[in-house]
Amino acid sequence: MENFIAYNPTTLHFGKNVLTMLGSTLKEYGNRVLLVYGKGSVKKSGLYDMIMGVLKTQGFEICEYGGIKPNPVIEDVDAAAAIGRQHNVNVILAVGGGSVIDSVKIISVTIPVNHGGWEFFGGEAKPVTAIPFIAIPTLAATGSEMNPFAVVSNHAQGQKSAFGSPLTFPKHSFLDPALTLTVPKNHTAYGIADLIAHCFEAWFGVGESTLTDRFVISIIREAMDYGPKLLGDLHNYEYRERIMFSATMALNGMTMYGRSTGDWGVHSAGHCLSLLYDVPHGASLTIVFPAWMRHFKGQIGNRIAQLGSSLFDEPLTADESIDRIEAFFKSLGCPTRLSDMNIPGDLYQPIFESMIHSKVNGGNMKMKEEDYEKLIRLYL
Ligand code: NZQ
Ligand code: ZN
Repeated sequence: MENFIAYNPTTLHFGKNVLTMLGSTLKEYGNRVLLVYGKGSVKKSGLYDMIMGVLKTQGFEICEYGGIKPNPVIEDVDAAAAIGRQHNVNVILAVGGGSVIDSVKIISVTIPVNHGGWEFFGGEAKPVTAIPFIAIPTLAATGSEMNPFAVVSNHAQGQKSAFGSPLTFPKHSFLDPALTLTVPKNHTAYGIADLIAHCFEAWFGVGESTLTDRFVISIIREAMDYGPKLLGDLHNYEYRERIMFSATMALNGMTMYGRSTGDWGVHSAGHCLSLLYDVPHGASLTIVFPAWMRHFKGQIGNRIAQLGSSLFDEPLTADESIDRIEAFFKSLGCPTRLSDMNIPGDLYQPIFESMIHSKVNGGNMKMKEEDYEKLIRLYL
């Protein structure tokens, strides 16, 4: 095992009607709130009206920023931070998917400073303080509700990058699985794939930790059992509950205990597809992961075979494991080749250049330009 630190300060409220505690919890941080949400699902579902009702009844001063896009962009982060600064807010409320929660993490550290949020990503600036924020996730996928990471795109710079700091954990997250009942089938599937991919990235990291391997396998198996059931019955609360719990556990630190790093090379490569073609995050992973395993099977074939055998309960070779994992992603309705996305044009060169520009790499399996080339050809 590798040495590790376990730190997670987010208070998680999980289950039916947990939002009844929202007002009193927000009050612990202040009475001037910036409400941030996405493109419209919260208004359609009635959640926006419900939250506004709670905030108004309890005497909060409210300002808001709606319109955060999937694959969120730095311009929205800066615009929302300006509103928060102008209203001198003392707490932020993120209501939406990972894109909204990630944006709020950067908004929280940008409000107190006099520069744009992107400076945190390149390391030009380091946050020293943050406006506290609370998350209400409406989609099970990223685990953003219980981790410090934020992934944001900057199209002008040609990058989709991640940032995280001990300051960017949510103070509280309220997870009511009922809020995910309206997530459409495709995004439900991408979320299931994303949580499984987070487990894979941990599995292929550095450090042997058998207990953590068992956590990882349990989380994936839970998602493989209930994911397909949920896709056949999108309004089933109990399946939503199981998938939401799995997604949060897949990226809250637990899968990394005893490892010095995960791999994250597939995420890094997938971000280029989201940046260039707005491929939804989970879909980018189901396209790249099978290709990545095929590319590296000469070096990590045993680990791939161990993963497949543990997931499918029978002895499998690396090749058989990859085929079965790919077939599982397909059964969810996820793409496993970029061609499944029907994007016109010659895609190889822009992706290759984006990978070079973004210095795509894994924490364990190192990649050079010749790896980029082979990887892209395996998933095109
Ligand atoms: O914008 P709205 O109208 O809210 O619609 C969203 C969006 O179109 C919709 N949606 C969300 N909740 C809904 C709903 N529709 C109906 N009912 C609901 N209850 O779903 C669409 C996708 O939303 P998005 O927030 O983009 O999805 P997700 O939660 O998968 O987040 C993806 C983003 O998170 C980043 C990804 O790179 C991507 O930018 N990630 C964040 C991570 C983290 N913070 O730890 C780790 C991940 O690996 C990932 O990189
Ligand atoms: Zn992910």
